[in-house]
Amino acid sequence: MKKNFAAHILLVCSALLGMSLSVGASAAAPKAAESCTACHGADGNSTDANVPSIASYSEEYLERSLTKYQKKERPCVESEYLSGSKKGTKTNMCKVASELSAADITQIGAYFVAQPFVRTAQTTDPELVKKGKSVYKLKCYTCHSEDGGFPGDHAGILAGQKMTYIKQQIKYFKDGTRVAPKKMLPKLEALSEGEVEAVIHYFGSIQ
Ligand code: HEC
Ligand code: HEC
Repeated sequence: MKKNFAAHILLVCSALLGMSLSVGASAAAPKAAESCTACHGADGNSTDANVPSIASYSEEYLERSLTKYQKKERPCVESEYLSGSKKGTKTNMCKVASELSAADITQIGAYFVAQPFVRTAQTTDPELVKKGKSVYKLKCYTCHSEDGGFPGDHAGILAGQKMTYIKQQIKYFKDGTRVAPKKMLPKLEALSEGEVEAVIHYFGSIQ
């Protein structure tokens, strides 16, 4: 929490000063991770609602996710490069992942795990946040600890993650396009539309 807050302040200061200050980043992105930063942001903190932030993701989860994209076990959603020399060119995560070797994935994992996750400030409805908090505590907490903000759960980061992205993933899990962990699926299926919306607002509200 403190770390994220500090990171946020640093970001704000650097924006104000118009300087490019890296947020506690240990080093510049290795070559293998350069293409990632065009969409996920220089340090893995995305500024696009459809692109998840991947800073501080555990190496295990990052590798598992990239392997799934390589095998097309996750939907290959069309996306376009948001910056850099390929700006505007269409691609998707399956194609991006297919170009990575095992050594690239190791380098990429080591880089992003060391970058602090910057929680995205988003507009949330206080009533939904309150309702979402109880949904979270009852149905999600056991696997997504610390409000879904603990990288060691190897389940992505939901606290302060892009709400658009979370919403889309829940939809994929429910319609089977993305295979959900066996014990998570019944929890998601038991939620009403309103409860799904509420839990998304809860994760979005965490700062
Ligand atoms: C053209 C833009 C683009 C590029 C380049 C890109 N990504 Fe992505 N990435 C996305 C989008 C959009 C999603 C969400 C896709 C979805 O819904 O499955 C995503 C999803 C992911 C996820 C899943 C996140 C989660 O929470 O499960 C990981 C991991 C990831 N990208 C890693 C990478 C890495 C590593 C690279 C560089 C080798 C990279 N991406 C390059 C756009 C991009
Ligand atoms: C039994 C453990 C478990 C429970 C309970 C659980 N999850 Fe998950 N969840 C996981 C795991 C493991 C993953 C990572 C799946 C993967 O690797 O593709 C995950 C992934 C996710 C993701 C995608 C993260 C990303 O970055 O793409 C979302 C969204 C999510 N869970 C929401 C929820 C919500 C909402 C609840 C409560 C209603 C919940 N989960 C309950 C284990 C669980």
